[in-house]
Amino acid sequence: MAILVTGGCGYVGTRLTEALLARTDQAVTVLDTTWFGNYLQPHPRLTVHVADVRAIDRCELSAFDTVVHLAGIANDPAADLNPYASWEVNVLATMRLVDRAARDGVRQFIFPSSGAVYGVRSEPRVTEDLDLMPISDYNKTKMVAERVILSYSDRMVTTIVRPATVCGYSPRMRLDLTVNLLTMQALTKGAMTVFGGRQVRPNIHIDDLIDLYLFAQARRLAGIYNAAFENLTVFDIAQLVADQVPARIDTQPSNDPRSYRLCSDRLAATGFMPKRNVSMAVGELAAAYRDGRLTDQPAWHTVSWMKEHNLG
Ligand SMILES: NC(=O)c1ccc[n+]([C@@H]2O[C@H](COP(=O)([O-])OP(=O)(O)OC[C@H]3O[C@@H](n4cnc5c(N)ncnc54)[C@H](O)[C@@H]3O)[C@@H](O)[C@H]2O)c1
Repeated sequence: MAILVTGGCGYVGTRLTEALLARTDQAVTVLDTTWFGNYLQPHPRLTVHVADVRAIDRCELSAFDTVVHLAGIANDPAADLNPYASWEVNVLATMRLVDRAARDGVRQFIFPSSGAVYGVRSEPRVTEDLDLMPISDYNKTKMVAERVILSYSDRMVTTIVRPATVCGYSPRMRLDLTVNLLTMQALTKGAMTVFGGRQVRPNIHIDDLIDLYLFAQARRLAGIYNAAFENLTVFDIAQLVADQVPARIDTQPSNDPRSYRLCSDRLAATGFMPKRNVSMAVGELAAAYRDGRLTDQPAWHTVSWMKEHNLG
């Protein structure tokens, strides 16, 4: 069996590709522009194509059983750098990819949307049944891409995951994600800056998300699933970091209204159980920093890196 992972050189994609190679016998093809580098080690079952998903029309997909479509502009401020290009990558290219996959007989299409598609919500249980009220271009592109993919559900298994903010170590790091950023600040400066602090943010450990993608493929899981296991305030997250990496917590006013808690009961009903938590991610990041695997590199700051290199 063969699987295509677009964005396979990214933060999540690198760890997913490594897991697919280590834990399954599938041939893995990665398609990625490698904007943030390529940290995948050569493997006899791995092929990496440095290519843009916007040119997917030229690719033949009939060899693939499953497509996991992770390539995209992956956060609000990055999408705001060039909204037109963000819609092209996140929506138009997704439309071409899913259409090509359906025509070429791919059996399953797995897509990470975002837990933030619900917008700012006061409901205690934000379930998949609520209307979506995305407040940024990034979240709007995710909402529309979901709808496009779901329109192919009569032709293949379509799996939409709405992940919380991911945390934990990857060879391609992202230091724009709350837990990762605060842990790095604590490690390097002995102080964390929290903007606001009362906003609630759901979280998921990167290894739980990887497990979920493998589970979704193995079970041919169809439909939409929230994937979030700890709804914490940003201040609570800083406190969890400080418990393991002693650091001062400074607070500043915030102009980011996003606050939401996700309910993942639908996913739990499938039998999927998370095995990690935010504290474990903090401990693993601290260990990676101390043994030299984790350093603060310019490419780990997605927005400034994209701006500097005119990416998007
Ligand atoms: N990390 C999170 O907290 C999180 C949460 C929810 C959803 N997601 C979604 O998961 C996916 C992966 O996120 P990530 O954290 O690994 O981000 P990332 O930025 O590390 O990875 C994205 C990868 O896609 C590649 N890419 C971007 N545009 C491309 C294009 N046009 N053609 C080919 N490759 C392209 C980049 O080079 C990068 O390697 C994204 O779609 C993101 O929106 C991430």
